[in-house]
Amino acid sequence: MNNFEFKNPTKIIFGKDQIQKIATELPNDAKILLLYGGGSIKKNGIYQQVIQALSGFEFEEFGGIPANPEYSILLDALNVIKTKKITFLLAVGGGSVIDGVKFLSSAALYEGIEPWEILSKRIPTVKGMPFGTVLTLPATGSEMNSGAVITRAETKEKLTMGGSGLFPVFSILDPCVVASIPERQIANGLADAFTHVLEQYMTYPINALLQDRFAESIMQTLIEVAPAILKDPSDYKAASNFMWSCTMALNGLIQKGVPTDWAIHMMGHELTALYGIDHARTLAIIAESHYTYNFEAKKKKLAQYAERVWNITEGNLEAKALAGIRKTTEFYQSIGIDTKLSDYIDNYEGTAEEIARRFEERGMTGLGEHKSLSPTDAENIVKMAY
Ligand code: NZQ
Ligand code: ZN
Repeated sequence: MNNFEFKNPTKIIFGKDQIQKIATELPNDAKILLLYGGGSIKKNGIYQQVIQALSGFEFEEFGGIPANPEYSILLDALNVIKTKKITFLLAVGGGSVIDGVKFLSSAALYEGIEPWEILSKRIPTVKGMPFGTVLTLPATGSEMNSGAVITRAETKEKLTMGGSGLFPVFSILDPCVVASIPERQIANGLADAFTHVLEQYMTYPINALLQDRFAESIMQTLIEVAPAILKDPSDYKAASNFMWSCTMALNGLIQKGVPTDWAIHMMGHELTALYGIDHARTLAIIAESHYTYNFEAKKKKLAQYAERVWNITEGNLEAKALAGIRKTTEFYQSIGIDTKLSDYIDNYEGTAEEIARRFEERGMTGLGEHKSLSPTDAENIVKMAY
């Protein structure tokens, strides 16, 4: 096992009827900005619960943060933060709203001129404006981690940012919110969380027995609850297990002391930036090619995963590893997610070359757990995913 340090300061408040607890978590003298997305919270009653909890506090609102949070819109919110002298941010939404708020938390205290530099120059955020979240869509884990992904339509970029100053102060996880999520987004949440675990697990054995079993148990739980939550998102048993699995998949715990990959995410982000394909679906497009292309380096963990997560008992190590890849693709497909780029767009020629060019330009020349995947390797992987 590798050496590690672990600190996750986010307070989680989990369960039914917990949204009202916002009131006990917010600083009394805060000037709050409530931020949300395209309006789903106004249809499912979450907005009303939040507004009720905020009575007695001084607050402003900013709605309209889109899926794949857009830089130019976030700049409008930043303007509100500055003009209204906001001191605390409250994100009510899925990964996009929470990530947008993380950007704002950082940008509000940024002393440079152009806050895009936080992303383009990869400036870590050590201190941000404090913020809390009410999660409305289990998927990204953003509610309990310190990373964010921001989109800039003008340049077709989707870049990551983060830092120790970007953990939410608190996050409220009420599984009842899952009831109103459309099937497409439930499937996205399952696929995103599942792939988060894969990215932190499918590398090479490093004798981290507990981390492996944490990872395997999250994947097993997602597989177990997937049919139930897709059939009936108001099933509390399924919703609560789905929600907590998504949070645990990317709150830092399972990646401590082990190598991590994240190449699938790096390639996937480019597909969203170029074509607007849902984040989770881009991961399902890339995963099989990535594991097939890097089969030799990953086959031991692929075989362990096949055995422990999918109960594959037949065949030698290679056969089991191949079965692990096949089972992964089948899992995405079983929840209604297509796994080839050509399932989503017609004109995909040149995509792989463009992604390789972008990686080269940004100096992303060593992806994966061995930092050995060149832009040409990425090009080959994306081509296999057509
Ligand atoms: O905008 P509204 O109207 O709220 O509708 C949203 C949105 O259209 C809707 N929705 C959310 N909660 C709902 C609901 N509809 C009905 N009932 C509810 N309770 O769902 C749609 C998608 O929301 P979004 O926040 O975009 O989805 P998700 O949580 O999957 O977030 C995706 C974003 O997170 C980034 C992705 O790149 C993408 O930009 N990621 C963030 C990560 C992180 N910070 O750690 C890691 C991930 O790998 C990922 O990259
Ligand atoms: Zn993801």
